[in-house]
Amino acid sequence: MSTETGSNFWPLKVSLRLRVTLAVVFPLLVILGTLTTLQYQRQKNAILENVSLVSSYAGQVIQTHLSRDVPENHPAELEIFFNQMSQDKNFRVAYFLDSSGKILYASNSANVGQTLSNSAPDCQPCHRLPVQQRPPASLVVTAGSGERVFRSMFPIENGPACVACHADDGKPLALLLTDTPVAPLEGSLTSAFRENIIWSLGMLLVTILIVNLALNRLVIQRLVHLLDALSQFGQGSFHLRLPAQSPDEIGQLADAFNEMGQRIEDNAFKTQELSEQLQQRSSERGELLKRIIGAQESERQRVAREIHDDLGQALGGISFQLEATRRLFQSDPPRARQQLDQAQGLVADTTERMYDIILALRPSELDDLGLVSAIRSQAERVFANSDIHFEMDTSRFTSRLPAEVETAVYRTLQEALSNIVRYSRASRVKITCAYQKGIFEAEITDNGKGFSLDEIKFTQASPRGLGLLGMQERIAQCGGGLTIDTHLGSGTRILLRIPIESEPNHE
Ligand SMILES: Nc1ncnc2c1ncn2[C@@H]1O[C@H](COP(=O)(O)OP(=O)(O)OP(=O)(O)O)[C@@H](O)[C@H]1O
Ligand SMILES: [Mg+2]
Repeated sequence: MSTETGSNFWPLKVSLRLRVTLAVVFPLLVILGTLTTLQYQRQKNAILENVSLVSSYAGQVIQTHLSRDVPENHPAELEIFFNQMSQDKNFRVAYFLDSSGKILYASNSANVGQTLSNSAPDCQPCHRLPVQQRPPASLVVTAGSGERVFRSMFPIENGPACVACHADDGKPLALLLTDTPVAPLEGSLTSAFRENIIWSLGMLLVTILIVNLALNRLVIQRLVHLLDALSQFGQGSFHLRLPAQSPDEIGQLADAFNEMGQRIEDNAFKTQELSEQLQQRSSERGELLKRIIGAQESERQRVAREIHDDLGQALGGISFQLEATRRLFQSDPPRARQQLDQAQGLVADTTERMYDIILALRPSELDDLGLVSAIRSQAERVFANSDIHFEMDTSRFTSRLPAEVETAVYRTLQEALSNIVRYSRASRVKITCAYQKGIFEAEITDNGKGFSLDEIKFTQASPRGLGLLGMQERIAQCGGGLTIDTHLGSGTRILLRIPIESEPNHE
């Protein structure tokens, strides 16, 4: 089978491939995008939580030291602590503030003594809100320098160890404020995010590639073959079949295509045969019609000739006889009476001749005696000069049929009898007539040489077989059917069956 890809290849490939690829890629893109974003968010939260922990850890360390150590050592310890924090790159600034916002200690000693104002823009995210609505003690703000920082505020609480020196009013004694720059954290986050996106895109590309390869091999190529076959089939290549394929849906489609092709091819073959048979029948019928018209014409000529030759001459003779009689009537009455007798004889002859002509035109026996006697009389006439012995069984037929049915049956059996005499070389013939349950049946069987039905097909070159065809046509016109059962060397059996609608008249 040709597997050439036609002009339909590209649109099918594009549309199906594009649709399936989109159907796979789009949900994958959404899933990967959501996962990457979620992971980014989770990492960011984890980092901020860590930073918050580090800041609050510093606050806890200060709180623990201050509560354990003797108050005289507090300034020195805080000094050391903030010096260490100034070395720590994690903190942009670290302030130890009293309740008025004054910086008591700082990682940058230059700022010590300054008072921070709550109205500064970087303090506003919390301080513009009522106390209950403020966010938790750590959040990202833009510092005065314009840098984004993670700001943490850890209150140094007034514990039991502090009340000896500090008034016990339930308020925190101080506040540890630390700023951790966000940019380095965000930088590592962003590069991790970028890495994730590159991996996701890589996965997507590999998925697209695999999906396309699989689609091409399992679906597109096979569909294109099918499409190509269908298009060739549509142009009349009914013999085209697809090779056996795997039993999936496309395989089943190919099987259905093959089955359809086989059926269409079979039907086309049958149609061709029927059309040839129809042509044959039509030319046979045309020939039959020609013969019937010809036979009618020659029959008319024969009747005209017989009327002219026989009846015309006889009537002329009678007229001449009567004229002579009229002349002799006065002079020689005995002679006139003799002439009259002769004329009467001529009239009787002419009448007989007229009956002969009528008899030749239509079998009067059929009208007078009925079908069975007419057939018997015909058989006796036909077989009179032959060695053929015939018998009739009409015990199951005692009725009269409609006139047109009787004529058709009579003419059919007449032709069968004539064929037997002419071709069969039979010694015995049996004729059966029967009527049963609304069906009239007649059968004529001979034990002659038989013949091959296939060999008597009518052709223009050899115009034989119209007698049998005429028999079939006559019976078909009465709504019946005729079957010829014959083989070379095994005699011939002709069976005709005619359904009789009205109840036949009993003889
Ligand atoms: N009873 C039979 N026994 C043997 N051969 C027969 C018999 N009946 C018909 N045939 C064969 O069938 C052929 C066709 O018969 P059919 O009556 O159709 O045509 P025909 O007798 O040749 O011509 P037509 O009837 O038109 O004058 C005959 O030529 C003969 O060879
Ligand atoms: Mg014949």
